[in-house]
Amino acid sequence: MENNLAFGIDIGGSGIKGAVVDLDTGEFTTERKRIPTPQPSTPEAVAQTCRQLIEEFDLPESMPIGITFPAPVSRNVVLFMANLDKSWEGVNVAELMENELGRKVYAVNDADAAGYAEVLYGAAKGVDGLVIVTTLGTGIGSAMIYNGQLQPNTELGHLEIDGHDAETRASSGVREAEDLSFKKWAKRLTRYYGHVEMLFTPDLFVVGGGVSKKHEKFLPLIDIKTKIVPAELFNTAGIVGAAALAKRYL
Ligand code: BGC
Repeated sequence: MENNLAFGIDIGGSGIKGAVVDLDTGEFTTERKRIPTPQPSTPEAVAQTCRQLIEEFDLPESMPIGITFPAPVSRNVVLFMANLDKSWEGVNVAELMENELGRKVYAVNDADAAGYAEVLYGAAKGVDGLVIVTTLGTGIGSAMIYNGQLQPNTELGHLEIDGHDAETRASSGVREAEDLSFKKWAKRLTRYYGHVEMLFTPDLFVVGGGVSKKHEKFLPLIDIKTKIVPAELFNTAGIVGAAALAKRYL
């Protein structure tokens, strides 16, 4: 099916990445291009970078575009922003991008996009019940999927645990900043996933984010009852999920 294609853009703290996705397979049909995230990462600057990125591809007018944000996004509006410029709060992303790109876009939280992609094409494909996908990066992102249906904007990285915002103790960025061994980090992850497990009783945890490539160094050390597996799409998940959601909802 030639026209089952959509474009995904993944906006992160350090890079803005995009590719065309074949939604029959969940694979890229073009190379993935990346432009560094402008600093400061204001809405105007990021929208211009998205335009630059799109101009590098020859996209047909009709191709749906999905964009991920490292923030909760409800009805296209960014609710709060932890890891990009604070001026994003309250911005209607669809309007901003439509003005800059001259086309409609579908905006979604980055972890929700990644989780949706894992359900369609990856580690959570065909899993019944409750799957919680977490992305371990600068922050901790979460996606909750029940019987294949995404419940968006769960923000489980910001659970307060032992008096701390969880992502400020257990993200991969914090592991790097504090130079924690995988063993020490796994203790913090056990506390984190143990708490989430107690609250939600999921059937499966899927762990994504760049560090999931090194899953054998820390996943076996996380001591919880629930099955916990690495993501399968690694760094393509955000783009793939955004493209799939755009195709579905635009
Ligand atoms: C944000 C989430 C995001 C996660 C990963 C958190 O700080 O609040 O919306 O999914 O970081 O980027």
